Amino acid sequence: MKLFERLTRRAKENPRRIVLPEGAEERNITAANMILADGLAEIILLGNPAEIKKTAARLNLLHIDKATILDPKDEKNIDKYAPLFFELRRKKGISMEDARHFTSDELYFGCLMVKAGEADGMVSGAIHTTGDVLRAAFQVIKTEPGIDTVSGAFLMLLPEDSPYGTDGILVFADCAVVPEPDARQLAQIAVCSARTARDVAGIEPKVALLSFSTKGSARNERVDKVIEATKIAHEMAPELCLDGELQSDAALVPIVAALKAPKSDVAGKANVLIFPSLEVGNIAYKLVQRLAGVEAVGPLLQGLAAPVSDLSRGCSATDICKTIIMTANQAIHE
Ligand code: ACO
Repeated sequence: MKLFERLTRRAKENPRRIVLPEGAEERNITAANMILADGLAEIILLGNPAEIKKTAARLNLLHIDKATILDPKDEKNIDKYAPLFFELRRKKGISMEDARHFTSDELYFGCLMVKAGEADGMVSGAIHTTGDVLRAAFQVIKTEPGIDTVSGAFLMLLPEDSPYGTDGILVFADCAVVPEPDARQLAQIAVCSARTARDVAGIEPKVALLSFSTKGSARNERVDKVIEATKIAHEMAPELCLDGELQSDAALVPIVAALKAPKSDVAGKANVLIFPSLEVGNIAYKLVQRLAGVEAVGPLLQGLAAPVSDLSRGCSATDICKTIIMTANQAIHE
């Protein structure tokens, strides 16, 4: 079964509550209508209710009646969530007045709903920057136990009969968040990406920590960082099939793996590729996407205590739908 068929079926069987902070925006309303029409999630739209209903009526989006609509500027709603924000940021020295101001911002409001357990996940970024979405999530939702570094993975969907990855799926990370991870952060990115591979992509992870060196073929402090990260990742998750440092050809191509890393149980079979920096990861996923015509799904934020997804500002309503489905899947814990 194709990835999105499987994720769609799973979302429908386990409906989750997804909050859309950009709820008054047309693509978001259209996506919400599509999700509600098929019963794939419960939707909470944030924004001015009259404006949202007017847009839905103009676009003839009848299923928006099934959405919950909340206005973050409504004093009653601010009264409800501002104390939680104040509590979360008290140590940073904020006042209740500041807390009320942040709470009235739709991104923070959405995160506070997730934090309060009144939504299972959030999707945003059609009109906000990545940094804005991430900062709200970092401050309010925070990281899951044992992790302090959030990162962003892409599922690269190759043809199903591709010799690379598993069922044509490769996971790339970090492509979105941490500009210059240290060894400890890189190890966390590897461990979180393995979980994304298993839980969202439905594949058994074989994780390669990439470098320009394979098993000591080059000496450099950047290589040392990847070797150290591999060691830490093994300590964090001894059961994981994970290896480094590997060059990308040694990670992916069996014949090269046999020459360069014959003892590795990942080399030649890797389906999760961990890049040593954001520069490399971001450039690599965009090159593969454009030059090889591969669909890149993400970024899937990993390491947060609850799922938040960031959209590209150029996204379509269909892209938002797919992201809602993926976010709902991240919120299903079986
Ligand atoms: N994981 C968890 N928490 C984090 C992380 C992280 N990766 N980064 C920052 N934080 C926390 C900090 O601990 C801090 O928490 P606190 O306020 O409770 O003390 C808070 O977030 C703010 O930290 P800053 O260092 O001030 O964060 P800053 O605002 O400088 O930047 C950001 C964070 C926005 C994620 C930055 O790292 C960034 O811009 N990354 C690149 C994002 C990007 O542009 N990606 C490429 C485009 S996306 C794409 O192409 C798919």
